[in-house]
Amino acid sequence: MAVSGKQYAILAGSGFKSFGSDSEGMSISTCFGDPSGPVRELRYDDHTVYLLARHGEDMLIPPHAINYRANLKALQQLETDCVIAMNTVGVIGSNVHPGEIAVPDQLVDYTWGRAHSIYEGLGELDHVDLTMPFAEHLRRELIEAARIAEINVHDGGVYAVTQGPRLETAAEVDRLERDGADYVGMTAMPEAALARELGMDYACLSLAVNYAAGRGVNSIHADIEASTMTAKIQAMKILRVFFGVMDE
Ligand code: HPA
Repeated sequence: MAVSGKQYAILAGSGFKSFGSDSEGMSISTCFGDPSGPVRELRYDDHTVYLLARHGEDMLIPPHAINYRANLKALQQLETDCVIAMNTVGVIGSNVHPGEIAVPDQLVDYTWGRAHSIYEGLGELDHVDLTMPFAEHLRRELIEAARIAEINVHDGGVYAVTQGPRLETAAEVDRLERDGADYVGMTAMPEAALARELGMDYACLSLAVNYAAGRGVNSIHADIEASTMTAKIQAMKILRVFFGVMDE
């Protein structure tokens, strides 16, 4: 459950088009450029929560072209303590199914060419410790909110972050599985590392929307079409319990 006195932000991804778009928006600029769009304020009963659409409000910015540094820096400038990253993932292992929610506890980064650090050789450098890439207290709080909302979430698992925007080949998914991955998505890195560099806690609420390439019987897009709404409804319920009911 959200802790009072802490400032939370939601980074919303695919599947959340128009979420919060009628709430107040702020244009923020940062030393890394502009974030993907305005930062909006969601008013729940107990918390005012920042919301930023990582792909832009029209969902036009692909994962490899997002200005992750500006997004995370904007949230830090607003004195965010905790970032909840909502993202969609394909499932690799057999114990998670499309339509379900996961709160991963590890990641492997396969992305390349993304501006992935705030350090540019100009000031003092900190090699941040990413042994545990997600903030454990935030993971636990999200899982507790899901328990109260009576939504089954998968606690833990390894999120493999691929470059996109294309989906993987079946052989690539086999390789991810050999590497220990349970889920595959495109955005948790560099977000998790940047949040750590900027001093914010970060955890993912991951919406499983398809079986990863080569793992399902339907096409990936058919899975996504069939499962996104189910996963989204559950994620929204978790947030309502986490923050208190949203003000009308
Ligand atoms: N691969 C990568 N990213 C994704 C997937 C996938 O199968 N599903 C949702 N995001």
